[in-house]
This record gives sequence, structure tokens and C-alpha cells, in this order.
Amino acid sequence: MLLLFSLSGEHPCLPEAEVKAVLEGECLEYSVFFRDEKKRILVLDVESGHHVFVNRLSLTRKAGLVASLSSDLEQASGEVFDVIRDAVSFAVRCSEKDIRVELGQLLARKGLVVDLNNPDKEVYCVKAGNRLFSCIRLALDRDFRSRVPKKRPFFHPTTLHPKTARLLVNLARVKAGDILLDPFCGTGGILIEAGLMGLQVRGFDVDGGMVSGCVRNFRFYGLKGEIGEGNAFELDDMEVDAIVSDLPYGRSSYMTDRNLDSFYRRFMNKAPGFLKDGGYMVCVLPRDFDVDVEDLALLDRFEIYIHKSLTRRVYVFRRI
Ligand SMILES: C[S@@+](CC[C@H](N)C(=O)[O-])C[C@H]1O[C@@H](n2cnc3c(N)ncnc32)[C@H](O)[C@@H]1O
Repeated sequence: MLLLFSLSGEHPCLPEAEVKAVLEGECLEYSVFFRDEKKRILVLDVESGHHVFVNRLSLTRKAGLVASLSSDLEQASGEVFDVIRDAVSFAVRCSEKDIRVELGQLLARKGLVVDLNNPDKEVYCVKAGNRLFSCIRLALDRDFRSRVPKKRPFFHPTTLHPKTARLLVNLARVKAGDILLDPFCGTGGILIEAGLMGLQVRGFDVDGGMVSGCVRNFRFYGLKGEIGEGNAFELDDMEVDAIVSDLPYGRSSYMTDRNLDSFYRRFMNKAPGFLKDGGYMVCVLPRDFDVDVEDLALLDRFEIYIHKSLTRRVYVFRRI
């Protein structure tokens, strides 16, 4: 199965890294079939017909199941028709008007009904170089706008935007049912996204006010989780599938250790005691940090520029 991902231009490599991490989390084999020069179009050859996972993606703008690779619109219309012949209605979406109109007319001539406003199936065409990918669009119903932190009953300025929170969860290569821990959970931004993706969540924060706020936010979304007051350094060992956390930046949030380096080092040394072998840990830190922990292999490191005094560093580790 060929799947096309139209990637967000917000970051040069995180959108593709997220797609691959989700596939790995879902244990799906894949190979790269095509990538355009600007890294905005990615086509993967995925071993199975399972594509529900695209719903989870945060930095993919559109996704589609490739029905035709032909630049010959007559041939493309036949291949697309084979896939959507039972559709109640359809619309062709393409940035190139000529393709949009001609393919639309060819499909209509085969008996399909055009509905540009509310089509049953959307045919999404992408021209990349001399290639034309004609895809059946797959739904991405993430609705981040309705979940912006200010719409929650409990808000704190340190919370992450749900899009970033979801990205971090996805980088941890988890799947529904897995247990995810955020030992610095604050208002629950990361745990909410994880819970909505069907994960079991555990969250702790040393600040009781944050914990009760996090519980209120959880109820607001109809989620369940194990959330409690606790100092990350004093938690008992446990075995979770993944840790995803936005650590304190030493600014407005309450911190138990004012020396950031020693705080991060102590946590990195404690973290393997929470993670199963092979489990992933995704941490956000506000600056570079030399991590040298025996049981954690550093796989990736990304920078997300926020404003001139904050660039978030995302570290992805694997428990070895
Ligand atoms: C950057 S904020 C996390 C924000 C969170 N991701 C959210 O969506 O609201 C860091 C949190 O770490 C908590 N914290 C600081 N020191 C801690 C410690 N030793 N153990 C547990 N939590 C701690 C702070 O109270 C704060 O809520």
C-alpha cells in the first residue's frame, strides 16, 4: 500500500520523523517510495493495508492512499475509479486547475456524482516533479483548535500546545493500550493527547495545585488516568512503555532543584528505573544538555524554535 503524506513546513525533519515513529510504534514495516526535494511530500510503501494510524499524526497536513501513479489522466481516472466506484459523490482537489478539471470530468463521465462541498470521497492529486500521485484522501480528525489550552478548565502558561504534545507522544513509538508516564505532568497537556489516542496514562507533579488542575482537565475530556502528587525523584520504580515529559525550565514552574543541570542529570539517571527494556523516552528541555546515561541510548535530537529566548530541544531515547 502506498501512502502519501503532505507534511507541515513547520520543521525541516520532525514531520517525517513523526510519521516513521508512528509506523514503528504500530509495528508496521515500510520503505520510502518518494520524497520531494523540499521534504513536504513523502510517499511510503507500507506493508499492510492498515492506515488508521494516520489519524494520530500531528505534523501531517493531509494524507492519502495512492490509487494511481500515472501522469496520463485517462489512465489515472480508471485507476481512481476502481477504488471509489461505490462512492456516493466525489471531488477532485489539486493545486493545478487543469488536472482538477480534467480528472473531475473523466470521473464524472464514468458515472460518479460531483459534490465539491461535502463529497463522500476526496480525490487528492499531488504533482511532484514529473510525477502525479492521485490519492483517496484519508481523514485526519485531530481538531487541535477545540483543545487549545485556554479552553480547558485549568490553564497554566507552561503547558504545551496539543499539536506539540501529540508530536512528542508519537515520537515515543507507542500504540493504543500502552502505558505512558509523564512525571512532570503539570496541567496534563501531554497526558490528554496520549489519553485521547487510547493510551493508559500515569502522571505526577510535585505541585498539588497542578495535580488537581490536571485532574479537572482530564474530567473535562472524559478521560481516565492515574494522576497524583509526587516528586519525580522519589517515585517508586515502575515499568511503563514510554516516558514523555516536558521538564521544568527553571522559569515560572515550581522546581525542587534550582540547578537545572543537576536536576536534568538526576532525572535522566532515575528514568531507566521507570521504563521497560526497549521503551522510549521523549524529553523536552529548554537548552542543550549532555546526556550520558548508561541505560539510555540517544536516538534523535530536534530543535523547535519558539521565540528568541526559547528554543525547545526534543530528546528521543531508547532504554537499553
Ligand atoms: C514545564 S511544566 C510541565 C507542563 C506540562 N507539560 C503541561 O502540559 O502543563 C513542568 C512541571 O514540573 C513540575 N515539577 C517541578 N519539579 C518537579 C519534581 N521534582 N517532580 C515532579 N514535578 C516537578 C512543575 O510543578 C511543573 O508543573
